[in-house]
Amino acid sequence: MLLPLSSHNVIQYLHAAGLCSLEDGTSNTFELPKTNQKNCNLVVNVGDNRQLLIKQERGHENQGISHELFNEWLFYQLLQQFPVLGNISAIAPLVLHFDQDNSILVRSYLGEYVELGKFYQHSEILPSEIGTAIGTTLAALHRVTFQRQEYRDFMATAPEGQFRYSFYNPAQGVDSISPEIFAQVPSEALKFYQTYQNSESLEAAIADLAYEWHPCCLTHNDLKLDNILIHSRWNQLDNCLVRLIDWEACAWGDPAFDLGTILASYLKIWLASLVIDPTLELEESLQLAITPLEEIQPSLVALLQAYINAFPMILEYRRDFLVRVMQFTGLALIHQIQAQIHHSKSFDNSHTYQLQLAKNLLTMPEQSILSILGMTEAEIVSCVAKHHQIPQPQKAQNLVPLYYEKTRLRGC
Ligand SMILES: Nc1ncnc2c1ncn2[C@@H]1O[C@H](COP(=O)(O)OP(=O)(O)O)[C@@H](O)[C@H]1O
Ligand SMILES: [Mg+2]
Repeated sequence: MLLPLSSHNVIQYLHAAGLCSLEDGTSNTFELPKTNQKNCNLVVNVGDNRQLLIKQERGHENQGISHELFNEWLFYQLLQQFPVLGNISAIAPLVLHFDQDNSILVRSYLGEYVELGKFYQHSEILPSEIGTAIGTTLAALHRVTFQRQEYRDFMATAPEGQFRYSFYNPAQGVDSISPEIFAQVPSEALKFYQTYQNSESLEAAIADLAYEWHPCCLTHNDLKLDNILIHSRWNQLDNCLVRLIDWEACAWGDPAFDLGTILASYLKIWLASLVIDPTLELEESLQLAITPLEEIQPSLVALLQAYINAFPMILEYRRDFLVRVMQFTGLALIHQIQAQIHHSKSFDNSHTYQLQLAKNLLTMPEQSILSILGMTEAEIVSCVAKHHQIPQPQKAQNLVPLYYEKTRLRGC
């Protein structure tokens, strides 16, 4: 039975769970703006200057137990069970309480941190230190769990009496158009589906990415800027600049997917700043971007180099790792457009450009490394290779076909 939480009953709920006293009144409670369709998030100030975040998943009352909050809870259990993971400060445990019947998760709320997406909206600069901190943290998560069966088994645990699919391949394209789509999306957005479906090379590249998807470590699977927090005094700290939150989608997966998701989230800052006007050519729009790509590039490069530096072994395991990261970046840009069409019912010229960029990333990933990052693959890897004995990329080995005669799908 789902008990819908609100500012009126949350104190009683927390009191019953032993997490606060009844003196902590409702005036100390506020609701956070929604980040998605399903969760309701409340923040409550309790004694000793502590703040709690109460996350409740709604809308699945008739569909049985939701796996997503359970998954987040399971991840925090994993951190406690395996301290080597919990010691990675940027992912240190925050969960205090989980109530499966009512789909409620309570975490410590970090009042001194702000969402990275909001931080960039208000900051005139994109300091590369932040990219470095994200890359180092993500590499630590992937490296420590890399090919470790015990972590994989732990995260395959199902809620009591439930069954779980162990692997979800996130390399999914856009579903084929059904007649209902005409009623569901604005007419401008049909262009997105048409362009997608008319591009055989794009569909083939996504099918190949699905085929080459290698689950080998624990991955966050929703690593966008909204799910990264930055300390308000980040520039005075040596450690714990960032915290990764929202582990609902965390699973055994492919590390290139996490990097692609976060790179796409950075690229969105640039794409959202393009000046779009019917009287402007695309070239002019690009030149007038409020946040040009060149301002984002240092963060992207710092993130990737810090990642490879902290996890050089990934390049031995996957010679084509950066190429796959670029392709997952393209895929994440497509998923962003889809989410925008579904939630805001909007599609404009900037999305047309975003789709074109996504297509380039997916079908021409080697060339895209230089155009998006401003450096060649060898340059990105070379500064890391100085310290570690890692193979330099060889052009011939890294070539992937731009056109596939037959699409191949596996595991999805
Ligand atoms: N520990 C925290 N400290 C500060 N803010 C947080 C914390 N946890 C979550 N938030 C804020 O709450 C929002 C929602 O949390 P999140 O776990 O991402 O839930 P959702 O699944 O609804 O996106 C975040 O985007 C962030 O702004
Ligand atoms: Mg979130």
